Amino acid sequence: MSKILETGFVQGFIRMADDGWKQGWHERNGGNLSYRMKTQEAESVKEYFEPKDWQPIGTSVPKLAKEYFLVTGSGKYFRNVSINPQDSICMIEIDETGENYRIVWGLVNGGRPTSELPSHLMNHEVKMAASGGKHRVIYHAHTANTIALTFVLPLEDRIFTRELWEMATECPVVFPDGIGVVPWMVPGGRDIAVATSELMKKYDVAVWAHHGMFVSGEDFDLTFGLMHTVEKSAEILVKMLSMRPDKLQTISPQNFRDLAADFHVNLPEEFLYEK
Ligand code: 13P
Ligand code: ZN
Repeated sequence: MSKILETGFVQGFIRMADDGWKQGWHERNGGNLSYRMKTQEAESVKEYFEPKDWQPIGTSVPKLAKEYFLVTGSGKYFRNVSINPQDSICMIEIDETGENYRIVWGLVNGGRPTSELPSHLMNHEVKMAASGGKHRVIYHAHTANTIALTFVLPLEDRIFTRELWEMATECPVVFPDGIGVVPWMVPGGRDIAVATSELMKKYDVAVWAHHGMFVSGEDFDLTFGLMHTVEKSAEILVKMLSMRPDKLQTISPQNFRDLAADFHVNLPEEFLYEK
């Protein structure tokens, strides 16, 4: 048991959960985190596995057959992950059909993986293919400023992307592909998982209206940094809108094009419309 907790990827996972808690993004059991383990990482901890019964995932992820994931538990609090990880998180294995999972380690006092497992796994499947296997982390958080914006901005990808890009010069460099928006839907099921994973084909960020955000990334630093950057931009927009509804000056479409050229990023013209 202690050996598993000392492993680099488990330590990274725990630190990220703790960082999210410190940001105030995880009231009660809000939010969830998953990490697709490398083959050698799974091999290095296999001796500690105690497999439980197979359970249906609730959706189908055939490309993730036989993969192992480290996942937060449903109803578990991010604030407890660092002090009691074996109670709060678990490792799961996906079967050869991609229809079922089983817990192989963790959740020592019972429980099951996050209720958002269908969304996490469908996002993993899409991002693994889109990134050539590089993306390994999917993170869901209840980020207050981004949620607040879903009450006052039209729920359109092009509006959220452009407004958040304008709030901080680094934003288009950090998320050049933009942001997708899922209208309000019942969380925890297959339908919202399908809608989110559809957006994840194009973006690394999906906002869930009146709920929170999903982000995807290659490692813990990049994925946490992406959530942090989007939420900070949303905070600036909330502050700006609170001061006055319009802007005296801002970053123009041509400014974005100049930035894209110097920073060697591609900024799609669909987000550089004249207002
Ligand atoms: P879980 O506790 O099941 O992970 O649910 C938290 C959450 O944020 C649901 O969207
Ligand atoms: Zn949530």
